[in-house]
Amino acid sequence: MENITNEQYNEFCSFLEQQSGIVLGPSKQYLIVSRLTPLISQFKLNNLAELLDSAMDPKHRQVRLEVIDAMTTNETLWFRDSYPYDMLKDVILPEFNQSRPSAPIKIWSAASSSGQEPYSIAMTCFETNIPRLKTPQGVQITGTDISPTMLSLCKQGNYDYIALNRGLSPQRKKLFFTRVNEQCMTVNPEVKRLVNFKLLNLLDSYSSLGKFDVIFCRNVLIYFSPQVKSKIISQLASALNPRGYLFLGASESVAGLNDSFDMERYNHGIVYRLKESKA
Ligand SMILES: C[S@@+](CC[C@H](N)C(=O)[O-])C[C@H]1O[C@@H](n2cnc3c(N)ncnc32)[C@H](O)[C@@H]1O
Repeated sequence: MENITNEQYNEFCSFLEQQSGIVLGPSKQYLIVSRLTPLISQFKLNNLAELLDSAMDPKHRQVRLEVIDAMTTNETLWFRDSYPYDMLKDVILPEFNQSRPSAPIKIWSAASSSGQEPYSIAMTCFETNIPRLKTPQGVQITGTDISPTMLSLCKQGNYDYIALNRGLSPQRKKLFFTRVNEQCMTVNPEVKRLVNFKLLNLLDSYSSLGKFDVIFCRNVLIYFSPQVKSKIISQLASALNPRGYLFLGASESVAGLNDSFDMERYNHGIVYRLKESKA
């Protein structure tokens, strides 16, 4: 197992935070070693110190991208925490469908990892009794992530049985997936066509994405400092249409960071809604 000095660790932590917002905190050397060691031979380097130096050198763009990608935590599952999807189906989608019957409802999954979140949103649209929400004319879902590896998994939409068994009921598996082989199933094309994927770092501008009615930015702010969280939440507020909804992870909150939102409760969960005065 390779070692890195405290100086190298601190330098790399500052670099990672500046590039991605991710704060590693103290004593996470093991995480750097376990996640980055495979990249040493891939880039034909001699040791971890060389890899870290190379990533921090702007001339080596590909090393930088892959090192940041490898440092992301991509834990996710289908219909995570249930309540955002229940609320979407029972309250939010019917409400927007009624208030704006002809414009598409736009939904952003802002840290989509391997795709379970945006595809769960798409399946939820299919589970409404509103026919137009099963078409790209009725709903447009954008999935973004900083990780090119995750985006490529999202686009393929193939999942092995371990991933499929994390949060998917047998009925949903049957309705929305097709068997590829003994190991995996793929998301059906009618579900896939509701979702578009793009590479996006949440530290950058979101203006190219347009405005959304609903944003899922779940289980990613936990990795950031309070300053970065606050900046991202205010950018998310600017990316919402009037009275738009923001779902954060179950352990995340806008409290003390931003006052643009009302808090609404649903089935033991919370959603943030852009205040009337901000509309
Ligand atoms: C733990 S996963 C959460 C996935 C999903 N939202 C969920 O709740 O199940 C966090 C995701 O955030 C992404 N991420 C981390 N930093 C990011 C950044 N600066 N910009 C965009 N995505 C980022 C990671 O690549 C990872 O896929």
